[in-house]
Amino acid sequence: MSSSKRGAFIVIEGLDRSGKSTQASLLHDRLQDRQDAGATTPKVVLLKFPDRTTAIGKMIDAYLRSESELDDRAIHLLFSANRWELASTIVAHLAQGTTVLADRYAFSGIAFSARKGLSYEWCRAPEVGLPAPDLTLFLNISPDVAAARGGYGLERYEKEEVQKGVRRVFNKIGRAVQEEGEGKWVEIDAGKTKEEVAEELWKAVEPLASGVQGSISGLWE
Ligand code: TYD
Ligand code: MG
Repeated sequence: MSSSKRGAFIVIEGLDRSGKSTQASLLHDRLQDRQDAGATTPKVVLLKFPDRTTAIGKMIDAYLRSESELDDRAIHLLFSANRWELASTIVAHLAQGTTVLADRYAFSGIAFSARKGLSYEWCRAPEVGLPAPDLTLFLNISPDVAAARGGYGLERYEKEEVQKGVRRVFNKIGRAVQEEGEGKWVEIDAGKTKEEVAEELWKAVEPLASGVQGSISGLWE
């Protein structure tokens, strides 16, 4: 690795049941296979948002399982804080040349909250300044196809009408991210087979797999 390169920050976004977590894990394994023998730092780390293991994550978990009720703004800020508590870890990994993969990120935060009627600008504000992804992969699937895939679970947002609204906001975010030059946004048809989706993702990821040039910027800054 050239010393002027840092790790790439790659985000995977999508609706529930889009195959996002499966694809994130396949991508992680594929990137890890490229690890040099004897390397001292990991080539790739996979993060997942929400990270339900932290103190904030436990509050989010209780909310998602409907064990607690929270004001829409309060839960929005908890999801955001759950990313901020990992922000310096992300930056440190990237700086030492490690690729960081995130299963959901700030865009999910905006999409799920704006769907409830909170303004786009209000939802975006606490995400401003987080480490900016170099590439966001959006696994696009229609909510009825997703629902037909063995159905949703029992968590708060796992309902077709919620997913439909979330998808609309995701599409708006994708356009905004591209217009504002906030990293690359690639839409992938997640209705295809697991193997086909994995290949499409790899096509977008491979150019970044051995690191990227340039410093890490703040999202929307
Ligand atoms: P999800 O990725 O589905 O986690 P799991 O695989 O553990 O089910 O995330 C849980 C839910 O949280 C999902 O419906 C999306 C929602 N969410 C938000 O509302 N805001 C956020 O900022 C994030 C990251 C997720
Ligand atoms: Mg889920």
